[in-house]
Amino acid sequence: MNPKRLFQAAFCMRFCKIIIDSAHKLTYNFTMKTLVCDFTHENLSKARELILMGEVVAFPTETVYGLGADAFDPNAVKKIFEAKGRPADNPLIVHVATKQAAYDVAQEVTADAEKILSTLMPGPITVVLKKQKRVPDEVTAGLDTVAIRMPSSPQARAFLSSAGVPICAPSANTSSRPSPTSWKHVLEDLDGKIPMILKGDDCTVGIESTVLDLTHDEPLILRPGMITKSMIEAVLGKEVKIPDKFNKKMNSPGLRYKHYAPKCDAYLNRDGDLNKIKEFLSDAGAGLIATDKYKGLTDKFFSLGTTESSGAHSIFAKLREAEKVCTKILVVWDFSGEQGYGVLNRVTRSCGGKII
Ligand code: TXA
Ligand code: MG
Repeated sequence: MNPKRLFQAAFCMRFCKIIIDSAHKLTYNFTMKTLVCDFTHENLSKARELILMGEVVAFPTETVYGLGADAFDPNAVKKIFEAKGRPADNPLIVHVATKQAAYDVAQEVTADAEKILSTLMPGPITVVLKKQKRVPDEVTAGLDTVAIRMPSSPQARAFLSSAGVPICAPSANTSSRPSPTSWKHVLEDLDGKIPMILKGDDCTVGIESTVLDLTHDEPLILRPGMITKSMIEAVLGKEVKIPDKFNKKMNSPGLRYKHYAPKCDAYLNRDGDLNKIKEFLSDAGAGLIATDKYKGLTDKFFSLGTTESSGAHSIFAKLREAEKVCTKILVVWDFSGEQGYGVLNRVTRSCGGKII
């Protein structure tokens, strides 16, 4: 074929591909019916079928709802990124039901990892280890490591066992929004973008797992959670590093992006100063998310209960409730203990670092 014809043919093929890809994106994003299914044996089988067909399914865990796909199917993994609008360079956690499945994705389960696996897992902790080659780059964003988590929630475990393959899953929210702790939050963000939500219980823990990097000599917490530094140190019998500030230079790509943001402006207060709080609330549209100690200051009050764990349990749900009726939100988080540190990390990011 002469070069001119060859060029024309190549141009035509490229043009057709662009049309087909755009049509696929439109269909994928706007016409999909999202089934919200009760957590029954029958629906677990449907979820399994979807996963094995290369689809995505939202499912409950003890931390937050996840959006899962077969971790060994790169095309299925891409659908997670599309549905969430997640940057492709932010890697996913691989969820497993058994220790054996962790051995199937990690190149080496180190002695420290073994200790975490047998004491703190199943539970709200994730370990980062060197990955096996078979784990696709789409899951790990091209890193040579893989994050592994074994959830403790019976519903998450039932879903993972039924699927029978390792499931990679981020939180099942639109990127940058507060994480979902109820199936309703998943529907709010992803209706029409995913084929199925398994309608399980509300999440008990409420913030995402602690992410622990075990790929260097010193264990490093990349994301704080309800499993704390001292709990991990007690298990490993050595010091675990936790940065004072989680920043973009750290080796966890998730830290690069805007996160957990409600739709209206949000601010954080750490000292519980009543004068500052009252001044903020003097604006009619202002709302307050805080523990019950601060109840009675406004009608637009969203309770975090009384403890660090009740705060963790409800923070994301309260951000979503408050954004619907407030023009601006103040979150008061005056705990300074280890257990509250994970919540502090999330609200600091929800508020984009705006502190009053
Ligand atoms: O509790 C949880 O961890 C929830 C539930 C669904 O299991 N999942 C979750 O996933 O929070 P996601 O994608 O929203 O957050 C995963 C975090 C991100 O900050 C990501 O950058 C980090 O883990 N991560 C994943 N793989 C990593 C790796 N290989 N190295 C360093 N960080 C990694
Ligand atoms: Mg997330």
